[in-house]
Order: sequence, then structure tokens, then C-alpha cells
Amino acid sequence: MISLVGMPGSGKSTVGRHVARHLALSFVDTDHLIEQRIGCTIREYFELHGEPAFRDIEEQVLDAATTAPQDRVIATGGGIVLREANRHRLHQRTTVLYLRATPEDLARRLRHDTHRPLLQGGGDALKRLRALFAERDPLYRRTAHYVIETGRPSVHTLVNMVLMQLELAGIAVSPPSRAP
Ligand code: S3P
Repeated sequence: MISLVGMPGSGKSTVGRHVARHLALSFVDTDHLIEQRIGCTIREYFELHGEPAFRDIEEQVLDAATTAPQDRVIATGGGIVLREANRHRLHQRTTVLYLRATPEDLARRLRHDTHRPLLQGGGDALKRLRALFAERDPLYRRTAHYVIETGRPSVHTLVNMVLMQLELAGIAVSPPSRAP
């Protein structure tokens, strides 16, 4: 099982979907699984029930996703590493790749975002991303087996970086065609 961790906007879902397709694995996104379960958007759920209630569901969903019998690629929500139980499960049960991006690159990618509750409310998004990054970068590093420095590459380049890392690690052999 392969999982992707990283800040919001680091490309986990997009890259994860492509990597899964190339490796002929199924793909799941914990945010998507959570929304299926709560029956509303994460943003609405945050507003109604608060972050701790969301984190409880996130922990349950991750536990189930990482014990599913079939091999798969899992994209995770940016805050998944906040709980030690999640970090432990990810590291023990999956090969974890950290898609690392700077707050500046993330702010550029997320400037039109309206879905992520932690980045709403106006004000200085870059400042908030810097604070989240300072708190989480050590946690992503601790959870991950491999760190992929994303910089500003295209999705195609990023997918190939991940596939190459997995090949080097002997985790996966990618099929010949690699166009995303
Ligand atoms: C969160 C990131 C979101 C989502 C929720 C909380 C976070 O996922 O799980 O809004 O704490 O950073 P993405 O990383 O896919 O945006």
C-alpha cells in the first residue's frame, strides 16, 4: 500500500490518482471517503461540528482505509499527521511519500481555493500556510519513508518523480508508458 502526505495543495490527490493508474492499483482519497460518510462537505462539517469531531472521523476512515485487503494508493488530508495514531498507522502499514512544497508555492496554488476550512476567513493565507507548515513539516517528515521535493514541476514530472522513487525503493515496477 502506498500513501501520500503533505500540505493542502501539494498535489496528493492529483498525483495519487495518476500513480495509481500507472501501477494498476485502486485509488482512494481520505477526504472523499470522509465526505461520503458525513454526507456533506468537509467545510460544512467543520462549521457545524468543529475540527476535533472531524479529526475523529478522519482517524476512523484512515484506520479502515489502511486495513483494506487490496493494495492501493491513498491520498490523505493535510492534517492527518496531527494525530500520532495516524502517523503510526501510515508508517507501519503503507509506504509513505511526502510531497513537500514551500508555503509560497502552496499559497500560489491555493489562491482561488474556497473549500479548505483552515484557509478561509480572509486575511493572510500565506501567513497561515507558513504557520501550518512550521507545525507540520516535521510531522510529515517523521511519517514519511520518502520525501519528494516538489518545487514547481508539472503534474507529469511529479508523477514520474514518485514512480521513480517507488521503483528505486523496489516498491513498484511501473508499466512502460508513463504519460499521465
Ligand atoms: C485539512 C486539509 C484538507 C482536509 C481538511 C483539513 C488540513 O485536505 O482534510 O480540510 O488540516 O490541512 P487537503 O490536504 O486535501 O486539502
